[in-house]
Amino acid sequence: MRLRSVELELPDRAAAVEFLKDPWGLMEAGTRGATTYLRGTGDHPYIVAVTEAPGAAMAAATFSGSPAEIEALYARAKASGLPHGEWTGEFDEPGSGAGFSVPGPEGEPFRFVVEAERVAALPAESGRPLQVSHVVFNSRDREAATRTLVDALGFKVSDRTRIMSFLRCDDTHHAVAYADAKNASLNHIAFEMPDLDSVMRGIGRLRDAGMEPAWGPGRHGPGNNVFAYFIAPFGACIEYTAEVQRVDDSYRTGGPEDWKWPPNRTDHWGIAKRDDAKLAASGAAFPFRASRERRTGSRLKRA
Ligand SMILES: [Fe+2]
Repeated sequence: MRLRSVELELPDRAAAVEFLKDPWGLMEAGTRGATTYLRGTGDHPYIVAVTEAPGAAMAAATFSGSPAEIEALYARAKASGLPHGEWTGEFDEPGSGAGFSVPGPEGEPFRFVVEAERVAALPAESGRPLQVSHVVFNSRDREAATRTLVDALGFKVSDRTRIMSFLRCDDTHHAVAYADAKNASLNHIAFEMPDLDSVMRGIGRLRDAGMEPAWGPGRHGPGNNVFAYFIAPFGACIEYTAEVQRVDDSYRTGGPEDWKWPPNRTDHWGIAKRDDAKLAASGAAFPFRASRERRTGSRLKRA
């Protein structure tokens, strides 16, 4: 199972789509009704969906896998007692098969779908995102959220720091992370670039568009990935990343004692500038929104 896409609701879809194409680097992958789909060069049919809506919100973080993986996860979520959406025979979106949605303990909108058809990857391009690498949520009770993902949804903990937990669902060091916060909301979405050079080219392209990083460039501790964070014009914090660590079951789960920075450092290189006020404001601007099925009310049931 792997992270496939994020689904966003935004009041100005056209402007968001234009930004995500240029300067951000995604490519349009079709429109259905009020939703426009964007892809990277990887083999996902789309990686961001933007639906026109009255307010900005995160509607879903979607994971895809084989029929056996997703069916087993549905059974596991049901058995766990998490409230969940019913099994949906076919989601109406590019490349999607059957699946289900399930909110995390603080309403994080997860969806899990069968990868019905893998589209052909496009040639990787320097400076253009491949796919979504991870999604990070702000959480009031990080330990409870982490436990739910492990127990009910089969994730594994890669690392814990003093303020964050990093979880994986395949060999990427983290697909989901939780950050301590006063409110549950989207913290950021990371887009995987082909390499470090691509991250730098991305920063240059955003600078040409008049935008400076809110944090970075730098190299993270957990995951060892290169990063540069920006606040998108539509309010979400988004990251270019590359060289994220790949791990297997032999990876030793790290704890807060393993991840301490010397004073005045927030990354391995020691060069990353960070605008805390800007980063905090973007999280507050981006709440979760119940997925379409949950909004109808009728399809949600407790196991
Ligand atoms: Fe990140």
